Amino acid sequence: MNTNYTSAQETLPILDFGSQYAQLIARRVREAGVHGILVAPDISPEQLRQLHPIGLILSGGPASVYEQGAPKCHPGIFDLNLPVLGICYGMQIAAEILGGRVKPGKSGEYGSARLTVQSGQAATDDLFAGVPQETGVWMSHADQVQVLGPDFVSLASTPACPMAAMRHHSRPVFGVQFHPEVTHTPHGGKILENFLYRVCKAAGTWRMGNFLETAVENVRRQVGKARVICGLSGGVDSAVTAALLHRAIGEKLVCIFVDNGLLRNNERQNVESTFRDHFHIDLRTVDATEEFLTALSGVTEPQRKRTIIGKAFIDVFKRAAQGIPDAAFLAQGTLYPDVIESGQGYARKAANIKLHHNVGGLPAELGFDLVEPLRELFKDEVRRLGEVLGLPESMVWRHPFPGPGLAVRCIGEITRPKLDLLRQADEIFLEELIAAGLYRSTAQAFAVLLPVSSVAVMGDGRSYNPVVALRSVDSTDFMTADWSRIPYDMLARVSNRIVNEVRGISRVVFDITSKPPGTIEWE
Ligand code: XMP
Repeated sequence: MNTNYTSAQETLPILDFGSQYAQLIARRVREAGVHGILVAPDISPEQLRQLHPIGLILSGGPASVYEQGAPKCHPGIFDLNLPVLGICYGMQIAAEILGGRVKPGKSGEYGSARLTVQSGQAATDDLFAGVPQETGVWMSHADQVQVLGPDFVSLASTPACPMAAMRHHSRPVFGVQFHPEVTHTPHGGKILENFLYRVCKAAGTWRMGNFLETAVENVRRQVGKARVICGLSGGVDSAVTAALLHRAIGEKLVCIFVDNGLLRNNERQNVESTFRDHFHIDLRTVDATEEFLTALSGVTEPQRKRTIIGKAFIDVFKRAAQGIPDAAFLAQGTLYPDVIESGQGYARKAANIKLHHNVGGLPAELGFDLVEPLRELFKDEVRRLGEVLGLPESMVWRHPFPGPGLAVRCIGEITRPKLDLLRQADEIFLEELIAAGLYRSTAQAFAVLLPVSSVAVMGDGRSYNPVVALRSVDSTDFMTADWSRIPYDMLARVSNRIVNEVRGISRVVFDITSKPPGTIEWE
């Protein structure tokens, strides 16, 4: 676990039993002003103590506490005199260790349920303070606590779950069967805040401004007087990394931006104007269009495109980096979910679907030490940090753009004329999306050039030209996505503009495939 960049005095470890919501718990805790971090479920009491926690949360998880091989926590963590909140599986394991019994319920409970909070002081003092006596909660469980340990009292119930919340009668140990961290539990935020502020007595010092100050100090300490190279991609993570490093070490930072010829209209100009003209950063742009397009010539297979682009990127970057003497560090925009999912995935092993995409990752053979100032942050925190650092809104809120760029949106063989057509169509789509105020509410939107021609009649002539597909998805984690319900009028405007303004596109279609089974990109 990397705690180099910890700026908060207050840490709240979350024992990760493999719930799909474990990261969400950490995010909610941070949104409430406390530094939540995910830790292994079997962390020892000694290791926990070294983190100086103000309390503990035990996450949910897919296992049954009574089945063989189910993840367990060390019973000694309950003797640390720390407030504990067990959620779902976390409640069950706490109950099991502290003298209760867990069994399958008569029926599972999945989705919304009606929670009744018991009246009386114990129930409404701490965890449920300010929560209505009847409220909706999100459930997702087959097992439930059937018998409470001798020192526990029930705080709330649902029709299918008599022990939907519990507390120890004298120690600050709580359990909830439902998921307060999801938005489907309307008072879930209040319940988590109650735990943090009423039970753990948090001061709530986790703020982006504080984080920035400490991160800047840490970078200065780590790199000393050496030069640091930072690869810019135009994306938010590398942009925030660069802006933070610039704040920390000024002219000792050198940024490299590789123009692979597969970027969108004005992308290179935007990066150059932000970093060179606005921040006055030493930015070296390498125009490697020729090299990439030559290597890609005649290639139609998507994974081969990715491999070629990944390899070319490393070659070009390496050459550019060799031209910067006395550079000893490479800055990377690694985020907390990457850290958790690569190697520290604790009980959750299946979730790293996106990792294969990381063609931008540079190999260790480059010989640099890494500076990764964002490795404790979630994406939304990175965006907030970007705002604190004064990056333009268009950069902070930019949709993700894949490393292989337009190569995977220009289906089939890649040629300059095809890329030009795609760029023009894509620009019109994004312009209209921004003008309609829909850019922030969509997760990713772009045009795809299809290797299919269709007929168009313009004036007196018939022409056969390629079709463009528009793709726009709503998503929070990019692992699942649904197509955006863009108003018809706006689609009509985009379609009209593309067929009228882009010579060589005959038709526009809109992709209405969800993920799964479809992917976001077409290739
Ligand atoms: P899919 O298409 O798998 O995409 O649903 C999920 C997210 O990953 C992005 N993506 C990539 N990113 N290199 C990248 O850096 C790639 O090869 C790549 N392929 C897809 C995609 O844009 C979406 O955000």
